[in-house]
Amino acid sequence: VTTATAAVAGHVDPVASPPRTLRLALLGFGSVGSAVARLAHDSPLHPARVTAALVRDVRRDRGPASQGIALASDASSVLASRPDVVIEALGGREPARSLVIDALARGVPVVSANKSLLAWHGDEVLAAAEAARTPLRYEAAVMAGVPFLCAFADRPFAASVHGFTAIVNGTCNFILSAMSGGRATRQQALAEAQRRGYAEPDPSSDVSGRDAAEKLCVLLRHFGGWSTTPNDLDVEGIERIDAEDLEQAREFGGVIRPLVSAAWECERPWAIAAPAFIPRTHPLAAVQGVDSGIVIRTRYHGVLTFGGPGAGPEVTAATLLDDAVTAARPGSSFACAASRRPSWDAPATSWFVRVGAARLPDERDTADLLGSHGVWLKRTSPRDTRRGGERQWALVHADTKPRIESALAALGRAACCDTLAIRAMEA
Ligand SMILES: NC(=O)c1ccc[n+]([C@@H]2O[C@H](COP(=O)([O-])OP(=O)(O)OC[C@H]3O[C@@H](n4cnc5c(N)ncnc54)[C@H](OP(=O)(O)O)[C@@H]3O)[C@@H](O)[C@H]2O)c1
Repeated sequence: VTTATAAVAGHVDPVASPPRTLRLALLGFGSVGSAVARLAHDSPLHPARVTAALVRDVRRDRGPASQGIALASDASSVLASRPDVVIEALGGREPARSLVIDALARGVPVVSANKSLLAWHGDEVLAAAEAARTPLRYEAAVMAGVPFLCAFADRPFAASVHGFTAIVNGTCNFILSAMSGGRATRQQALAEAQRRGYAEPDPSSDVSGRDAAEKLCVLLRHFGGWSTTPNDLDVEGIERIDAEDLEQAREFGGVIRPLVSAAWECERPWAIAAPAFIPRTHPLAAVQGVDSGIVIRTRYHGVLTFGGPGAGPEVTAATLLDDAVTAARPGSSFACAASRRPSWDAPATSWFVRVGAARLPDERDTADLLGSHGVWLKRTSPRDTRRGGERQWALVHADTKPRIESALAALGRAACCDTLAIRAMEA
C-alpha cells in the first residue's frame, strides 16, 4: 500500500513512511474554517497543521481549535506563512476572489468551498490557476459532503456528461420535507432549519433559489465547460409553496423538490433552478431532509446517481482536507477555464398548477379558457375549501413557461384567481 493510497483509502499502514505534514493556511475561521482546524489537528488519516488563519476580528475568543494558529486580519501575513495549500473558507465574492488569485499567482494550490466565488468569478480564478499551472479544487462548493466531482477527474469518458438533475440546497429540501405530511408550516420548518444550523439567520439566498443557482453554475462549468453566471439562468424560489401543495403532489403520485437541472446536447440547451414536482419513482424523490443528490446523464455510463449529506461544517472540512491532500501532490492536475458561453433556454415541461379564488369558475370553463391559450389539463384534483374560498390543483401537459404564465394570467383576470405554477419533471 503506497502512502497516497493509504491516506485516500483511510488505512494507516505502519510500514509505509509517514507523509510529510501539510502546512495549511486558512482564509476564514468560521464554522467551516474552525472545523478544518479541528479535523486537521485530531485526525490520524493525514498529518496536517493549520499555521495561520485570516479573520475579521482577531480579538474574538475562538476556543481550543485556534490554539497554535496565527490569527490575522491582514491577508498578506497569512499568505506569507509559506503554506503548502491555502484553504478558502471566507464565503462571498470579495476578498475571496482577490486572495485566491494572489495565492495562485504565488504558485500555492488553493482549495475552496465557495460556490459564489466559482459562480461569479469562475472564469477569472480558473484562468489564474491555469496561468500559474497550480491546482484550484472546489469539491466542497456543491454537495459538500458528497465527493462526486473528483470521480470524473482525469476520466474523459466518464466525464462525457450531457445533463443532470440535482438537489443542491439542503435548507430548501429540509423545509419542503418538513412541510410535507402537514407536519410543519413553511415558517415552522424554516425556524427549525435555523435552530439546527442548516439555514442562515438571513435565509433569503436559500429560499429565493440564489444559492441553488450559484451551485448550478459550478456544475455547468464542471460538467459542460460552460461559462455561466446566475444572471443567465431561469431561477425560482420555494417562497410560495405551502403544505397543501405538497399534500396534493402526493395525491398526484409525486413530491415537490428544490431542483437544479440542465441539458445541453439538445437543440436548445436549457438550465433551470426551481422547485419541481417529480414522480415518486424519480431517484431524487427519496432524497429527504438536508440531504443532497444528483442524477448525471452521461454518454457512456448511462445515468449515474450520487447522494448524501449536502453540507455541515464537519463533512465540509473533511472534503476540503481531501482536496488539500490531493492538491499538494506533485503533478496534481489543475482545472481549466471554461470557454463555452451558451444562451440558456428554459425547457417546455409539464406543470403542477394551483388556482384559488373566493369561488372558482366551473371546471369546464377553466379548461376552455386555458385551452384557448394552448394549455391543456392532464389531471385535476377535487376542490379544497380548508383555507376558506376554493382551491384546486392540476397537472398540465408540457408547455413553455411564457405560455403557462400568460394562460394563468388570463384565468386570473377572468375569474379573479390567484395562481401558482411549478414545473413537473419526469427525469
Ligand atoms: N457551513 C457549511 O456547512 C458550508 C458547507 C459547504 C460550503 N460552505 C462554504 O464555506 C464558506 C465558509 O462558510 P462558513 O459557514 O464557515 O462561514 P462563516 O461561519 O461566516 O465564516 C466566515 C469566516 O470568514 C471570515 N471573513 C469573512 N469575510 C472576511 C474578510 N473580509 N476579511 C477577513 N476575514 C473574513 C470571518 O471572520 P470572523 O470570524 O472574524 O467574522 C469568518 O471567520 C462559504 O463559502 C460557504 O458557502 C459552508
